[in-house]
Amino acid sequence: MSESGAPHPRAEQRYSAGVFEVYLAPMEGLADPPLRTVLCRHGGYARCSSEFIRVTDEMVSEKTLRHKVPELAAGGCCGTVPCAVQLLGDNPAVMAKSALRAVLLGAPLIDLNFGCPSRFVHHSGAMLLKEPELIAAIVREVGAALAGQVPLTVKIRAGFADKNELGRIIEAVAQDGVSELTVHCRTRSELYRREALDWSILRPVVERYPKLKVVANGDIVDFKSAAECVRLSGCHTLMVGRGAVAVPNLGYVLRDGARPYGAGKCLQLCLELYETLAAGGILDKIILNRLKQYLSFARQGCAALEDFFVTFCRVQDLSEALRLLEQAQRGFDYAARNEEADHA
Ligand SMILES: Cc1cc2nc3c(=O)[nH]c(=O)nc-3n(C[C@H](O)[C@H](O)[C@H](O)COP(=O)(O)O)c2cc1C
Repeated sequence: MSESGAPHPRAEQRYSAGVFEVYLAPMEGLADPPLRTVLCRHGGYARCSSEFIRVTDEMVSEKTLRHKVPELAAGGCCGTVPCAVQLLGDNPAVMAKSALRAVLLGAPLIDLNFGCPSRFVHHSGAMLLKEPELIAAIVREVGAALAGQVPLTVKIRAGFADKNELGRIIEAVAQDGVSELTVHCRTRSELYRREALDWSILRPVVERYPKLKVVANGDIVDFKSAAECVRLSGCHTLMVGRGAVAVPNLGYVLRDGARPYGAGKCLQLCLELYETLAAGGILDKIILNRLKQYLSFARQGCAALEDFFVTFCRVQDLSEALRLLEQAQRGFDYAARNEEADHA
């Protein structure tokens, strides 16, 4: 196939991974509005999410919501992909008011974050996994405020210190107003340790709560890991984070068996990211850092980018960086077209 990201022509001949939908994960400091824009354009996602929005003892302001979620001005969608507004906080009443304000501004769904492991979020995020009663109170109040106007979803880790905590946490979350639960299959203490990840902890949850859509998350990076995740978890909706930045058409890869983008397409996406950032009036230096950040992920998904990444990282001037990008993109595209012609 071409590098278009459309379903691979041979997709139907391959076995299916059993993936029905793929969501783009919230990623603070990474999947900000410009990156969401390009990833949603290419990725094949059924949903994306804002970065977490901190709710303190005051209702989150309209200004903050509009700034963190510019999608609100576009019907709540990033292109055509609905964008959840994700809230993080510990005060049930203020969370409820903030959620309602987001809905009045056009949020198509509200997501509650009980998974953020950062020490800097204090008594919020994954810290609340130690207090299922408080989680239950937040979910109850937000659910009551929304009164079914938009879906309410929740994102958690598998526990604070031990995956055996998962059952109690899910009892707190699985209330009438909640339609979906995403679980990053590690505990807060396990942070991002590779060997700690365990998708199979979700199977009993899927079986016990048939009305709750359970979304599996953690280290799903390619067709093989998606198929394994579906097999072990029993979930058919998957959420992808870091892998989505490494492989910009990952949703299509997992759902339809598309071939992961090659180097030329990744660089084209990098140029689109530049255009999106520049249109937002971002400073050149910050744009350059963001392009380097994107490429540091892209080279993990596409080994052919490694040498280019090393060269690109040395550049300190944005116009020189763009010249290199365009030149390399044309070179990789030319090579890809020749390769396709050879295989036609
Ligand atoms: C840079 C970064 C920022 C993140 N920010 C958030 C966030 O704002 N809200 C959230 O619920 N999870 C956040 N996460 C967690 C991801 O959504 C996801 O659960 C985690 O990365 C595991 O999925 P992955 O292996 O597909 O990346 C973040 C992860 C990363 C790497």
